[in-house]
Amino acid sequence: MTDSVLILRPAGRDDLGFLQSLLPRFVAFGLPPGQDEGAVLAGAAQHLMAALAAPQEDSALLIAWVEEAGQPDRRAGFLRLDTERPLFGPPFAYLADLALAEWAEGLGLGQLLLTEAEHWARRQGLKHIQLHVFATNARARKLYERAGYSEATLGLVKALKPVR
Ligand SMILES: CC(C)(COP(=O)(O)OP(=O)(O)OC[C@H]1O[C@@H](n2cnc3c(N)ncnc32)[C@H](O)[C@@H]1OP(=O)(O)O)[C@@H](O)C(=O)NCCC(=O)NCCS
Repeated sequence: MTDSVLILRPAGRDDLGFLQSLLPRFVAFGLPPGQDEGAVLAGAAQHLMAALAAPQEDSALLIAWVEEAGQPDRRAGFLRLDTERPLFGPPFAYLADLALAEWAEGLGLGQLLLTEAEHWARRQGLKHIQLHVFATNARARKLYERAGYSEATLGLVKALKPVR
């Protein structure tokens, strides 16, 4: 991707089809036991629709847009950010969604989007950023680890055999 520029812009209604096209990527790596694909997809879709319908000042839904010499401009992925306000402790940025189109993987864009997420969090006056990732999502976990994220809590699960 020489001579290419990555631009982040707020998502609009025109982006709905693109956003929806990326949803299956949130389950393609194989979910841990106890997770239901349909429920994960429905939840992700609902959050995206809400963010598109009613943008908030303390959250962001951003489209990653690549402009490249000699190529049509293309949507490469998206980033959804929230501000969490726990009952105790300071507010923090929450990286709610991050996804790239398949063609945009392996080019370093995931890391660039994480850097943009940090810029956004700092501009919001927030001091740290959190996220959740399915344990089975090896690629995303590697990306986050490389970017300096460390484990905060661990959720454990065991599939139960049906009663006979
Ligand atoms: C996760 C995602 C954003 C990664 O973006 P990316 O820019 O393509 O990331 P990279 O190609 O740099 O991969 C990150 C690391 O994982 C490694 N990797 C690639 N495929 C892998 C795989 N199948 N298993 C484990 N590691 C893998 C890469 O080699 C890289 O490691 P490195 O930095 O040591 O070279 C992108 O794959 C994506 O959109 N996935 C679908 C949606 C998703 O899972 N989002 C995260 C939800 S929490």
